[in-house]
Amino acid sequence: MKKILITGGAGFIGSHVVRRFVNNYPDYQIVNLDKLTYAGNLANLTDVENRPNYRFVKIDITDAQAINELFAEENFDAVVHLAAESHVDRSIVDPTAFVMTNVIGTVNLLNAAREYWKNDYKQKRFYHISTDEVYGALGETGMFTETTAYDPHSPYSASKASSDHFVRAYHDTYGMDCVISNCSNNYGSHHFPEKLIPLAINNIKNNKPVPVYGKGENVRDWLWVEDHARAIDVIFHQAKTGQTYNIGGHNEWKNIDLIHLLCKIMDKKLGRKDGESAQLITFVTDRAGHDLRYAIDSTKLQKELNWVPSLQFEEGLEKTVDWYLANEEWLNNVTSGNYQSYYEKQYKNR
Ligand code: NAD
Ligand code: TYD
Repeated sequence: MKKILITGGAGFIGSHVVRRFVNNYPDYQIVNLDKLTYAGNLANLTDVENRPNYRFVKIDITDAQAINELFAEENFDAVVHLAAESHVDRSIVDPTAFVMTNVIGTVNLLNAAREYWKNDYKQKRFYHISTDEVYGALGETGMFTETTAYDPHSPYSASKASSDHFVRAYHDTYGMDCVISNCSNNYGSHHFPEKLIPLAINNIKNNKPVPVYGKGENVRDWLWVEDHARAIDVIFHQAKTGQTYNIGGHNEWKNIDLIHLLCKIMDKKLGRKDGESAQLITFVTDRAGHDLRYAIDSTKLQKELNWVPSLQFEEGLEKTVDWYLANEEWLNNVTSGNYQSYYEKQYKNR
């Protein structure tokens, strides 16, 4: 029996990873550790919360003592680390919160693993989930591969790059079994509506302006979140120690084109006239240091571990819209209270 610590499991991607592991591996004990910040929500996991192989613990990863106590209490076989501050715009306002959670929090977990696993490194695994944003920005052409030099620009990507370096350093220095993956932009259900796609869905639904930064020319490479969770499953079980894998869908979209597609889908779903939702598109002041283009080359993952994305973007986006329209209560809960003041501050003077 395997006991696995998954951090950040009540957030967007983490909840999909927890659900997948709890459902697919009944012999594993899954411990979901999360601080439950504004982005963490136990309502994301109501379908698995009573399973015998699942337990939730509310811990802040910046609290080294609490992490050590948990490691002393539970004999973990592996860590899958997703807990992080994840929104670029918030990192521009408050970089320190990103250093604390993404850098110090990751080092706290590495230190606990180092201490409690030191006699048994070969039987244990520390899997760190990271982002393509560590590679910086691309021009019109080219793709990020696993050997692209790190060149982060935002406080968010700088903190993730730093955490990646620490994970690699613990592998190289102490011989810990560490694996890293760097994924492109995810989309799907349970995505907090501060990020582009769920924010736009929520605003279109409520007939509010849809803010597009700059001219909407920036390009992102979108992957369905459940394809990311499946890639994490494959890498966790099959990657050799010390390896890094890029994960992406070969699915690049200019923001403005993506928003037009979303508006079209929403018109259909909401019974609006074709073109009605697109009238909500509003160009606003650009993000500071806005990376022009991300594109992931996931050939290594496809060739070595046989992973390929399962969904076409149009189909996945429609599924995503359906989920948000069917889960109005979830959406209303996460957009009440603090979300309103965040939105005001973030978008008022743009
Ligand atoms: P998210 O913001 O939806 O969830 C993050 C989770 O971490 C939340 O549940 C939050 O409560 C928890 N958390 C934050 N600070 C914590 C702390 N100090 N202690 C314990 N828990 C804490 O993020 P996400 O989009 O699900 O991203 C998950 C991971 O995947 C992150 O490491 C992110 O960098 C990475 N990633 C995200 C994307 C993407 O498109 N969203 C792409 C590639 C990689
Ligand atoms: P986001 O979802 O924040 O992800 P990331 O910055 O990690 O790529 O943003 C995706 C793209 O959409 C990015 O180019 C910024 C842009 N964007 C907008 O145009 N308007 C918005 O309101 C937001 C949140 C993002």
